[in-house]
Amino acid sequence: MSNFAYATLLTGESYLPGVLTLGQKLKELGTKHKLIVLLDSSSISEENKEVIQSIYDEIIPIDEEVISAPLEKVQEKLDRSELSITFSKILLWNLTQFDELVYLDADVLPLQNLDELFESFELKSGEIAASPDSGWPDIFNSGVLKIKPSTETFEKLIEFSSQPENTFDGADQGLLNEFFGGNNWVRLPYLFNVTPNYRQDYQYLPAFHRFFNQIRILHYIGAVKPWHYGDILSSDLANFHQYWWDDFNRFFGEDAHLKYKLLNLPRGEASNLKFGKQKNAWDVDFVTGGSSEPTRESHSPVFPWEHREEKREATRVFHPTTPPSGEVEEGSSEAVEEDLKKNIEALGDVKVSKDTEKKSEPLSKNYGFEKEGDKNFNPEKSLAEVAKLPFKFFSKARGKKEEK
Ligand code: UDP
Ligand code: GLC
Ligand code: MN
Repeated sequence: MSNFAYATLLTGESYLPGVLTLGQKLKELGTKHKLIVLLDSSSISEENKEVIQSIYDEIIPIDEEVISAPLEKVQEKLDRSELSITFSKILLWNLTQFDELVYLDADVLPLQNLDELFESFELKSGEIAASPDSGWPDIFNSGVLKIKPSTETFEKLIEFSSQPENTFDGADQGLLNEFFGGNNWVRLPYLFNVTPNYRQDYQYLPAFHRFFNQIRILHYIGAVKPWHYGDILSSDLANFHQYWWDDFNRFFGEDAHLKYKLLNLPRGEASNLKFGKQKNAWDVDFVTGGSSEPTRESHSPVFPWEHREEKREATRVFHPTTPPSGEVEEGSSEAVEEDLKKNIEALGDVKVSKDTEKKSEPLSKNYGFEKEGDKNFNPEKSLAEVAKLPFKFFSKARGKKEEK
């Protein structure tokens, strides 16, 4: 009987929410195979390691073996120094106790059971299976891979990776594509690695809708991951991120302590990256908790498909009601609270009370998207749903920001 497993990689706590959601989702989808993590355990706390162990079958410690690509090149080519460690994916080929492995980045979300990847075809030695990259479909995206561990391939890869010119993006995708080339790449359908389709440059939403039911895996490529938003309310990426949030909340939403902890992990090096979050007029600063305003100018796109949309005028503007002088100081936290309350109540049919008890409903319920049918972000509906949030939720979030 063959020995198969799903593997992911974790070298820092900033990808922990992804690793946990991925593992839990694979289990929920009823996989027959083992789940393993290549883990640099020196980078995570003992407590967090235990959470990983509660979901994954095996931790493969790589503390002493982390392979780093030349930093300058990753920085120059992708402007994402945190991707230097993705060379550690090479270690997968050394796990010869397995006949085949399906490797999944921590930022992927399977939507269907993936066991067919093991059952439907066998790799020959020296081959790799992967889906085309949406930015350059003649190469593969290295976030979802099926590989055949082999000492020979492992040693060749180690040798190959020692030359910086052998990776064209400075990281693993540029390396693995150079190494396996066109001939040893077994193409998986794009359905196994679907990346966001919401950008202005090239939107292929019609296909996303048409084929949605067949999508096996969503992949949240780019420096900004779903869990980097403490809340999705004001996210422009909401549409695509919604699927991840729904599962995350279902798996970890009940345990308030764990959820809080996972969403407040340091972001790691990626957080130093300059991405500008798009702002809408209805965004309330304390919801996102950002202390300083990221600027659009400071964002450098990582991949071609990551160019941000040109700034558009907000489609909806709230007109703050100025409080009677003497009562509440304009711009003070009371004024903001008062304003928000008025705006929410103006949506009709909702009375906001400061005493509303916080319900333990998963946050995903509040995002206001339908999974079926039209998946376009609907601010009207979303806002109406937001209005149902207990008022304390906002006050608490704002309080957090003010402490900073
Ligand atoms: N990764 C990690 N720690 C890091 C950076 C990356 O563990 O600091 C792992 C993680 O599994 C992640 C993968 O390497 O999913 C590749 O990085 P990422 O998914 O961010 O690359 P992208 O898909 O955005 O190009
Ligand atoms: C990609 C892949 C990711 C890889 C990165 C760097 O887009 O999604 O897995 O680590 O590029 O090569
Ligand atoms: Mn990824």
